[in-house]
Amino acid sequence: MPQSFENIIADKLAERQKQSLLRSLSLPIGIDFASNDYLGLANHFEIAKTAADAYVKYGAGSRGSRLLSGNNKVFEDTEKWLANWKGTEAAMIFNCGYSANLGVISAFCDSKTHLFCDHLSHASILDGYAMSKGKLHRFKHNCPLDLEKALQKAEAESFKLIAVEAVYSMDGDIAPLREYADLAEKYGAMLYVDEAHSDGVLGPDGKGLVAQLGLGNKIHLSLTTFGKAYGTMGACVFGSKLLIDYLINHARSFIYSTAMPPGAVIAMQKAVEVASRESFRRESVLKMSANFRQKIQEAGFNCLQSETQIVPVVLGTAEKAQKCKHFLLEKGFYTACIRPPSVPNGTARLRINITAAHKEKDIENLAEALILYI
Ligand SMILES: Cc1ncc(COP(=O)(O)O)c(C=O)c1O
Repeated sequence: MPQSFENIIADKLAERQKQSLLRSLSLPIGIDFASNDYLGLANHFEIAKTAADAYVKYGAGSRGSRLLSGNNKVFEDTEKWLANWKGTEAAMIFNCGYSANLGVISAFCDSKTHLFCDHLSHASILDGYAMSKGKLHRFKHNCPLDLEKALQKAEAESFKLIAVEAVYSMDGDIAPLREYADLAEKYGAMLYVDEAHSDGVLGPDGKGLVAQLGLGNKIHLSLTTFGKAYGTMGACVFGSKLLIDYLINHARSFIYSTAMPPGAVIAMQKAVEVASRESFRRESVLKMSANFRQKIQEAGFNCLQSETQIVPVVLGTAEKAQKCKHFLLEKGFYTACIRPPSVPNGTARLRINITAAHKEKDIENLAEALILYI
């Protein structure tokens, strides 16, 4: 008798369970330290009201992909506005950051391309590569020296794409973008920076790490996601008109997918306006993160090289991380337990996200609970 496919699948899930790696859905309860709503904008009245009015005006759907019937002046006006805000020639809206990375990476990676990315690259960058035919080089995390060694291996005349994140989503540390930009120039590579966790929080008016470092003219392409600091949904890729025209022709996740509802696009722009204006949100989130990190590091916790609102608390095995998560949950704190394969083996952790919606007292209480745990 052949084994049923249900048994095969059940065995796979049971294996995950045995390794404390089974994922399941739960509803956040208690004080939420797992949210990516870094600036506390998801419940911002002005943004929600603007979105609601725009949904009523434009309808709930976009009617098709942008290249067919889904385009709308709202997209074009917002892209112009966003490009002007970021200081790039052009901009292109995607439905989300995952879809943008899939589209960008796969569009530029043909069989002759060399793709260079960090060992801790986000799954969306690697999945974009999985759709492509190029040669992948992974370099040591945040290590320009290792990147340079990899760049030297590629033929001088080949197309090279370096894809990095400004802030790493599971470690909260900051990439050495200046060194990467110098290497991109030296080796004639295109440099793509994913600002999913830096935009809104870092840089002048929250314009991200590229702007903070004054590297606007050295980075060829960058990504902003609106589902994180901006508390809404969607993503935007910024670059020259040439690169954006190329993406319109080659990014499969853009070409073959229904466009966002115009109301969601209007919400994106409103969130950027509010975030730029309400600078106290950025200031408080970075200050509270630094206080929290200092407190728990002094107590002996390993927060890796975090310098941002993402504070990892590395606990080792998946079992240990889960135990700590449950302990905190009983004390009223909801945290994200991050286990392999999302992070390397032996580095399972709690990923604690500080947001502008938290109060100083919440942070102090969480630090005290963690200290009680050890
Ligand atoms: C670095 C990075 N890029 C892209 C994404 C995907 O963005 P979105 O949630 O908008 O799909 C994420 C989300 O976790 C991320 O951490």
